[in-house]
Amino acid sequence: MIVDVHLRPEELDEKLREDARRGLTSAPKYLSPTWLYDAQGSALFEEITRLPEYYPTRTEFALLQQRAADFAEAARPEMLVELGSGSSEKTHVLLDALESHLHTYVPQDVSEPALRSAVARLSVEYPNLTVHGVVGDFTDSLARLPSGGKRAIAFLGGTIGNLVPSERAEFLAGTAGILRTGEWLLLGAGLVTDLDALLAAYDDAAGVTAEFDKNVLRVLNDRLDADFDPDRFVHRAVWDAENEWIEMRLEATEAMVVRIPGLDLDITFDEGEQIRTEISAKFRLSGLAQELEDAGFSVRHEWVDPAGRFVLLGASRR
Ligand code: SAH
Ligand code: TRP
Repeated sequence: MIVDVHLRPEELDEKLREDARRGLTSAPKYLSPTWLYDAQGSALFEEITRLPEYYPTRTEFALLQQRAADFAEAARPEMLVELGSGSSEKTHVLLDALESHLHTYVPQDVSEPALRSAVARLSVEYPNLTVHGVVGDFTDSLARLPSGGKRAIAFLGGTIGNLVPSERAEFLAGTAGILRTGEWLLLGAGLVTDLDALLAAYDDAAGVTAEFDKNVLRVLNDRLDADFDPDRFVHRAVWDAENEWIEMRLEATEAMVVRIPGLDLDITFDEGEQIRTEISAKFRLSGLAQELEDAGFSVRHEWVDPAGRFVLLGASRR
């Protein structure tokens, strides 16, 4: 089992400090979603994927079961790179379908604990496969990913929607930049669907998503010695109809001052003031396909579930 660390804990801390300083001194306040995923955040996300309201994971899983063989036939990779792989749970379906040609699986994630346990598990389950994990950031270290043999990149879970449009364009150009002509991208993305289903998926009845969202405050408490009281914030999921994305926000239930010694900073909140912690964009097929074309891909397959809520998109590098 191999795990390369492209992002050391000190570098991650430095990014966190920069990001928290910039975001929490802006108006409106925001934080980057990457910080949601420490060990506890990754575990809470796992719990989200099993909630009745959170349809993306099981919808994408069903699509993978139906289409993995078609993807394998078309792309025939020897090395599968998965970005933001998390627990790599759905990846089984892909690995099984790709088995005959595949020699290496490269899961990459910023969450070191989630990545290490996935690598350990998969190394046992797939003894004939080289499992080469990478702790890294998919927004800036793609060029350092391992290479060798025909590659394919998978980016699942609708994580593409967590990037704002400019980051998304940069990300797609970056993935195209490390692929050769004829190599494939498999992209899972959430589609615009009925509002009730969307809002429930991001604000479940059991409150797991609220805990997951608030976990970012605990991360700031742990890493920057901040004194956020998560009980004085409530989770909100809001549909932004113009941008067609869900915004996750934490709202202060009362006015307060939060100390962040790690940044030598005091942050003032008004009652009702919000921090934006995440966006989850939902796509229209034509728009998403155009973004891929613009980045240098030819879209070859658009596999959509019967309810029209999620797409698995297969595209080859031009
Ligand atoms: N692919 C999995 C997990 C999706 S959740 C699934 O489909 O279920 C998003 C994942 O992206 C998390 O595991 C998180 O740790 C990771 N992530 C978030 N920001 C990242 C970044 N900048 N670079 C690499 N991984 C990131
Ligand atoms: N990639 C997931 C998504 O956009 C991440 C996610 C699911 C998420 N639920 C969340 C992020 C709640 C923040 C809060 O669907």
